[in-house]
Amino acid sequence: MEEVIKIEGGQKLKGSVRISGSKNATVALIPASILATKGKVNIFGVPNISDVGHLSQLLRSLNVDVIQHDNEHLEIDPSVMVNIALDHPAVTKLRASYYFMGALLGRYKQVNMKMPGGCYLGPRPIDLHLKGFEALGAQIEYSQGSYKIFAKELIGAKIYLDIPSVGATINIMMAAVFAKGRTSIENAAKEPEIIDVATMLNKMGAQIRGAGTNIITIDGVEELVGCTHEIIPDRIEAGTFIVIAAAAADEMVIENVIPHHLEALLSKLEEMGVPMTIEIDKVTVRGSDHLKDVDIQTMPYPGFPTDLQQPLTPLLTRANGESTVKETIYIERFKHCIELQRMGANINIIPASAIIHGPSRLYGDKVTATDLRCGASLVVAGLMAEGVTEIHDIYHIDRGYENLDGKLRDLGANIWRENVE
Ligand code: EPU
Repeated sequence: MEEVIKIEGGQKLKGSVRISGSKNATVALIPASILATKGKVNIFGVPNISDVGHLSQLLRSLNVDVIQHDNEHLEIDPSVMVNIALDHPAVTKLRASYYFMGALLGRYKQVNMKMPGGCYLGPRPIDLHLKGFEALGAQIEYSQGSYKIFAKELIGAKIYLDIPSVGATINIMMAAVFAKGRTSIENAAKEPEIIDVATMLNKMGAQIRGAGTNIITIDGVEELVGCTHEIIPDRIEAGTFIVIAAAAADEMVIENVIPHHLEALLSKLEEMGVPMTIEIDKVTVRGSDHLKDVDIQTMPYPGFPTDLQQPLTPLLTRANGESTVKETIYIERFKHCIELQRMGANINIIPASAIIHGPSRLYGDKVTATDLRCGASLVVAGLMAEGVTEIHDIYHIDRGYENLDGKLRDLGANIWRENVE
């Protein structure tokens, strides 16, 4: 038996939806919390997603006390933690388990862990993370799917990232908080999640400056203490609901949003002719049947996020004309297009790009969520399609969207879970 999501398309959605805390910030903040050498870390706005469950399992395997309170509050007490090898099966369930490399190396100057897993989006190397650790003085051994990273001492260094990698920037920041002297990360990634992690580490006593710009400096400190932190809203969940509203709503209010984090998406939707009202912490979107074609090119923040090109693609099938999505981050991230073709979309997939010829009608079919944002893309398509869409491998969706189907039901969607053979 497999649990699938089924959607009967064509319902007009209406109402308001509250966006949860950022998944990609959360999955870094949880490992970052083990850098507290005394006191508890209380994180608020933690989304109820399976990635959080897996990271909590990893914390518990290190003897860290984790309490999941109601109201999205996670209390983490690393005071009696032990640095044993991270070979728990949960390591391979998500990519972000790699943040334990930087956090454990920073705290103990030694980490043993299995290769992290996560969504397959084409090759996802971690060479820049490892080069950063080496620059701080660590040695790295890799054998039979496991890393051993260790150092006598970590010493601040100047590190230039060939690509502004989100993961490498955060991992090096965590490894460097206790390093002697100053570390600078040049060509650092500028995503809002990086600022959120630096903000929490600074509340704990770290000396990190420049997060959100392309040069981050970290002055090593002796100890970090517990703190209380509220996670920023999830800009990708917000973007997904904004696209859903444009695709399937009469009118929808998306609340708990930082519109500044979504400028690339909002300006593309404006170009398409989607009627929107943008306020300080919410966006109101009205659906429209007259959409213009647009060209998208994914770029590091503040460019168009790769994580939103998949949810946006079904909306482009409704635009009049030829839209192009060009990937510069994950050039193979087009598996959703194959599923959308099955539903009737007229898409040519060429190397690193998809060309969407619109308008075309979508029809419900059996499709598979090959990764998290592919899953979101299929939900958008299912809401737009004629007939019933059946989505398989929905564990990908549950990894990163809190109660996506429940939130959509509250907005009037005909979406449900069912066990099928
Ligand atoms: N890269 C390297 N070497 C490295 C690291 C990255 O070549 O050592 C390359 C990657 O292959 C990619 C580019 O650099 O082409 C950018 O990758 P980045 O390291 O920034 O990605 P990430 O940190 O692994 C995070 C998000 C992804 C999101 C990307 C890009 C988390 C846990 N994941 O991944 O989110 O797509 O940044 O913005 O924060 C998702 O939420 O669905 C998701 C996949």
